[in-house]
Amino acid sequence: MKPKVVYKPISSPEEAEEHLVYMGHLQNSARRYYQCALVIAIVVTVLFCLMAAQLLLFPLLCSSSTEKMEILVKQDNSCSDPCNIVLVESIPEGLEYSPNSTISPSVFQSWMTLLSQAKCSVDIASFYWTLTNNDTHTKHPSAQEGEQILQEMIKLKQRGISLRVAVNPSGSPTKDADINALRASGADVRVVDLPQLTNGVLHTKFWVVDGKHIYIGSANMDWRSLTQVKELGSTVYNCTCLAQDLEKIFEAYWVLGEANATIPSPWPDTFSTIYNKETPMEVSLNSTESHVYLSSSPPPLSAKGRTDDIDSILSIIDDAKKFVYISVMDYTPTEEFSKPRRYWPVIDNHLRKAVYERHVTVRLLISCWANSKPNMFPFLNSLDALQNNKSHYNIEVKIFIVPVSPEQKSIPFARVNHNKYMVTDRVAYIGTSNWAGDYFIRTAGSALVVNQTCTVNSTNTMQKQLEAVFLRDWDSNYSHVIHSLTSYKGKCIF
Ligand SMILES: *[C@@H]1O[C@H](CO)[C@@H](O)[C@H](O)[C@H]1NC(C)=O
Ligand SMILES: *[C@@H]1O[C@H](CO)[C@@H](O)[C@H](O)[C@H]1NC(C)=O
Ligand SMILES: *[C@@H]1O[C@H](CO)[C@@H](O)[C@H](O)[C@H]1NC(C)=O
Ligand SMILES: *[C@@H]1O[C@H](CO)[C@@H](O)[C@H](O)[C@H]1NC(C)=O
Ligand SMILES: *[C@@H]1O[C@H](CO)[C@@H](O)[C@H](O)[C@H]1NC(C)=O
Ligand SMILES: *[C@@H]1O[C@H](CO)[C@@H](O)[C@H](O)[C@H]1NC(C)=O
Ligand SMILES: *[C@@H]1O[C@H](CO)[C@@H](O)[C@H](O)[C@H]1NC(C)=O
Ligand SMILES: *[C@@H]1O[C@H](CO)[C@@H](O)[C@H](O)[C@H]1NC(C)=O
Ligand SMILES: *[C@@H]1O[C@H](CO)[C@@H](O)[C@H](O)[C@H]1NC(C)=O
Repeated sequence: MKPKVVYKPISSPEEAEEHLVYMGHLQNSARRYYQCALVIAIVVTVLFCLMAAQLLLFPLLCSSSTEKMEILVKQDNSCSDPCNIVLVESIPEGLEYSPNSTISPSVFQSWMTLLSQAKCSVDIASFYWTLTNNDTHTKHPSAQEGEQILQEMIKLKQRGISLRVAVNPSGSPTKDADINALRASGADVRVVDLPQLTNGVLHTKFWVVDGKHIYIGSANMDWRSLTQVKELGSTVYNCTCLAQDLEKIFEAYWVLGEANATIPSPWPDTFSTIYNKETPMEVSLNSTESHVYLSSSPPPLSAKGRTDDIDSILSIIDDAKKFVYISVMDYTPTEEFSKPRRYWPVIDNHLRKAVYERHVTVRLLISCWANSKPNMFPFLNSLDALQNNKSHYNIEVKIFIVPVSPEQKSIPFARVNHNKYMVTDRVAYIGTSNWAGDYFIRTAGSALVVNQTCTVNSTNTMQKQLEAVFLRDWDSNYSHVIHSLTSYKGKCIF
C-alpha cells in the first residue's frame, strides 16, 4: 500500500475512507511516535483483516456494493481479478468466409452464457428493443435467437435476479412490445430522454451482469443483430473492477431516467472514476498484463476522471506507430444530423496527420446499404484520394457490402456491417458509436480500450485478434475499393 493516498472516494462509506486516510497518516507518524506504533499496528492489522475478509467473502455475496474492496484495489489502479476477455461477433446468415478464416464466438452464445451465469443482477444500457420480429410481422425463422434471449430475460425475475434496463424513448407505442413484456415480467425499465436532455439519443449498447461480467459492442437489442446484421463486441468475464466502472456509466443513465431529470454538473463523486487514458486499469486479461479503460460520450454525461470517447479515439490514432484500421458503419467528417449543417473534421484531421507526418498506414472499412447517406461517400473518396504512388501516403478506403438474397431483401434495417471498432499496431478499441460528430457531441455511447503493449507475451492479445478479424474482412470478397464502386448503384446509393 502506498502511504500517500490521494483518492477521491467512489460512493464509499465514509468510515472506510477515513480508515484509509488514517492509515496513510500513520505510516509517517509511526516513526516519530514510536510508542503509538504498536497500538496503531494492531488497529491497522485488524482493519486490514476485516477488509481482507470482505474481499474473500464478497464473491459469494450478491450485488451488495463493494466500495471498501474497491478502495483497497484501486489505490494504484491495479486490479487482481482473473479477467477473461472474448471477442464476439454476429456474422449475418449467408455471409461466408474462406474455410480457414478467423471466426469469433457469437454474440448470441455470449449473451446466453451471461444470462445463464447471472445470479443477482443484469443491467442493460440500450438504444431500442425489437428482439422478437413482431415489429416487422415477418415471422422470420432467424428471429428465433432474439426471441430466445427475450424469453430468458423474462425468466430472470423468477430466478431471483433483478433486471434493469435503460432505454432511449422509442417514439411509438407500437415499438414498445419487448419493453412492455419485460416490465410485465418484473423488470425495472427507465426511459432516458436523451433527445430532451442533450438533443442526442441513448445509443449505448452494453450489459453488466452481477457486477462482474460485461458485454459491450455494436449489437442492439434487436433480433437482426444476432442473425441478419454484422456485429462486433467484447464480453469480459470475472472482472469486477471493469464491471463496476461500467456500472457507473449505467448508473448515470439510470438517474437520468428519473422523472424530470436534469444533467448534474458536476456529477457527484459516486460517478467519478480513476480509470482513464492517463491512468488506465492495470489488470490481467486471459493472464496477459493489460491496460484498460472505458470511455464515454457525450461530454456532459462524463463524471470526473472519465475519458470522453472522442479523446480516446484521437489518442489511439495519435499513438499508432504502424497502422490504424477502422471498421465503422458510418464515417463522415460532419455532424451528420445537425441543422444547420456543420463540418466536423476532428477525426479526419488526425487520420490525415498520421498518414502525412508519421507514414502510418490507415485503412477504413465502411458500410454501404440502403440506409447509407449518399453525402458520406465524397468525403471517403477524398481520404482515399490521398493515396498516391509518388507520395506514399498509405490511406485506403474500402466499402463492405453484406450480400442480400431476394428473400432477405424484405427484412428492413438488416444486411449491413454494423461494426464500430478500431485496431492499431498497439491498441484495440471496441465502441458503440458511428464516427460522425453527433455521436461524440450529443449522443450517448461508450467504448472499451485495451492496451497490451506493456506485456512481453504478445502471442494472444486482443489487438492481435482484432487485427485478424479486420484483415479477414478487408481481404474478403465483400470489401470493395471505393473507387471501383460506380457499378454498385443497385446495392448502395452513390
Ligand atoms: C471470392 O471470389 C473469388 C473469385 O471471384 C472466388 O474464387 C472465391 O470462391 C470467393 N470466395 C468466397 C469466400 O466467396
Ligand atoms: C485450411 O487448413 C487446412 C488444414 O490446416 C489446410 O490443409 C488447407 O490448405 C487450408 N486451406 C486454405 C484455403 O488455406
Ligand atoms: C409477439 O407476437 C406473438 C404472437 O403474435 C405473441 O405471442 C407475443 O407475445 C408477442 N411478443 C411481444 C414481445 O409482444
Ligand atoms: C469465472 O470464474 C469462475 C469461478 O472462479 C469460473 O468457474 C469460471 O469458469 C470463470 N469464467 C470464465 C469465463 O472464465
Ligand atoms: C415532473 O414535471 C411535471 C410537469 O412539470 C410535474 O407535473 C411532475 O410532478 C414532475 N414529476 C416529478 C417526479 O417531479
Ligand atoms: C498504451 O500503453 C503504453 C504503455 O504501456 C503507453 O505508452 C501508450 O500511450 C498507451 N497507448 C494508448 C493509446 O493509450
Ligand atoms: C501504383 O502502383 C501500382 C503498382 O506498383 C499500380 O498498379 C497502380 O496503377 C499505380 N497507381 C497509380 C495511381 O499510378
Ligand atoms: C503466453 O500466453 C499464452 C496464452 O495466453 C500462454 O499459453 C503462454 O504460456 C504464455 N507465454 C509466456 C512466456 O508467458
Ligand atoms: C481468452 O480466453 C478465451 C477462452 O477462455 C478465448 O475464447 C479468448 O479468445 C481469449 N482471448 C484472448 C484475447 O486471447
